[in-house]
Amino acid sequence: MTIQRSSPGQSPPEGATNSRFEVIKSIEGFVGDHIETLLKPVHESWQPSDYLPNMSRPDWVEEVSEFRRRAVSLSDEVLVVLVGDMVTEEALPTYQSWLNRLPGVADPTGSSDTPWARWGRGWTAEENRHGDLLNRYLYLTGRVDMRAVEVTIHHLINRGFDPRTNNDPYLGFIYTSFQERATKISHRNVGTLAMRAGDEVLQKICGLIAGDEARHEKAYKLFMKKIFEVDPAEAVRAFATMMRRKIVMPAILMRDATDENLFLHFSRIAQRLGVYTAQDYAEIIDDLVRHWEIPTLPGLTGVAAKAQDYLSDLADRYRALAERVVPGGPVKFSWVHGRQVG
Ligand SMILES: [Fe+2]
Ligand SMILES: [Fe+2]
Repeated sequence: MTIQRSSPGQSPPEGATNSRFEVIKSIEGFVGDHIETLLKPVHESWQPSDYLPNMSRPDWVEEVSEFRRRAVSLSDEVLVVLVGDMVTEEALPTYQSWLNRLPGVADPTGSSDTPWARWGRGWTAEENRHGDLLNRYLYLTGRVDMRAVEVTIHHLINRGFDPRTNNDPYLGFIYTSFQERATKISHRNVGTLAMRAGDEVLQKICGLIAGDEARHEKAYKLFMKKIFEVDPAEAVRAFATMMRRKIVMPAILMRDATDENLFLHFSRIAQRLGVYTAQDYAEIIDDLVRHWEIPTLPGLTGVAAKAQDYLSDLADRYRALAERVVPGGPVKFSWVHGRQVG
């Protein structure tokens, strides 16, 4: 395959360059070939109602009571991480708009039949169930202040999110590869905490969502692997650029009625409970570096070779820096009726 290159001696600027756009278009067939296994058909997919009390049954009251009984032993800390994860999922409109800004990936009509457009809508449709299920779970348990949670979601969608990917599909897929893995880790760990608290329904719910995230992680890593094959020098540069910029979590701009630092406060609880930690950040870098076989990519020179060196031992540097002690004392969370948590 031939790829348009900028003239010799002129390094292409970071951002959605023509050559990157061409590569994205050129692997469309590859995406189409894999889409059936990377997304689940609707008739095989779980739906939120499968794991919630059936309100149309005559014994719905008993079902709801049983549901609530199981959730009684969840601590405020666990509720805070669960709400934070749910709020993150609920800002899906922001993420779909972001995906639709990536050149070559965007859905030009809103119902286009191109593989990238089908991927974007299919991914969104799967993700849409995550926020729905967690939201309804939390509402029915009666354990959190739903209005405060809804205010947070409202603020977060209002404020948006900039992952600093500059509408560049390479940076974008490095971001999503990282992020889907991070989300998988987080949901899985909340599931373990739910199991310890004796709520096996919540454990199951977190496991289902983590399973979807694992499939999405596999997909984005596969797309990026293909890009590494076709355009290794630019792909490795993009990977290094994204790592230097750091992966910002999608709910970074969350706030409630009063707490401007809500994301920081939530992420400290997540770190303290071991739900998502600085150590996890290092492990994700390590996984991506291995998966894309960065240290052994052949034939890189100049800036690309420097990027390869930078990435090859990056995880170890992060591991050494990962703080074991999380700063900050207890903070009041509106989500749990203003109680101190931490
Ligand atoms: Fe999700
Ligand atoms: Fe996901």
